[in-house]
Amino acid sequence: MTAERADAGQNNGLIEFNGYLIEKLISENELQAITQRLADEIYRDFKGKNILLVGVLKGANLFLGDIARELGRGNPEIGRLPMPVEIDFLQVSSYEGDTSTKDVKKRIDVSTDIKGRDVILVEDIVDTGHTLTWIKNQLKDRQPASLCVCVLLDKPDRREVFLKPEYIGKSIPNKFVIGSGLDFNQEFRNLPFIGVVVGPVKTSARAR
Ligand code: IMP
Ligand code: MG
Repeated sequence: MTAERADAGQNNGLIEFNGYLIEKLISENELQAITQRLADEIYRDFKGKNILLVGVLKGANLFLGDIARELGRGNPEIGRLPMPVEIDFLQVSSYEGDTSTKDVKKRIDVSTDIKGRDVILVEDIVDTGHTLTWIKNQLKDRQPASLCVCVLLDKPDRREVFLKPEYIGKSIPNKFVIGSGLDFNQEFRNLPFIGVVVGPVKTSARAR
């Protein structure tokens, strides 16, 4: 086994990744099932329309890719035909480390004219609700035909402003989660499942 493979090893049910022990909260299989259900719901509501998925960078990048591919794949079992979508991104910043700041700043805007478009904002997680509320207000001013929100994860107990996403992958308790696009200080985004950092790998057990 290479050092890299050992780095992603198991340890009492915890997974080693990036020098840390991670507790798995949502497996890859469950993430796939969530993605399929959300695609089913979006198709049910928007079939025949030319929707624009707008991902919030960087966290929503992987989730948006999964949703877009699933819509493009279709699901013959329930009669869901492959659905073409357009994709765009924007970037804001409101987090420092694991602390949310209410001070949202725009970094990158969408390049699409959203006037008259059916827009689905795609985000990794809604926590206090400040980020998505701010983004929604910005986009609403540009008069899309419709604007709704699809999130992979929801932490309803943390909400400070009212925000109810139309499409929710899974509601989770108030824990800081990583993986599948979600980071802690820019790390862990490519962990293929959702987890919680439990602590560092003990030095003696580390491969490096
Ligand atoms: P809100 O404005 O508090 O709703 O924060 C939403 C943003 O905070 C998300 O787009 C994430 O980037 C980040 N965030 C909130 N909770 C977590 C978490 O548990 N892990 C990683 N990022 C998080
Ligand atoms: Mg984010």
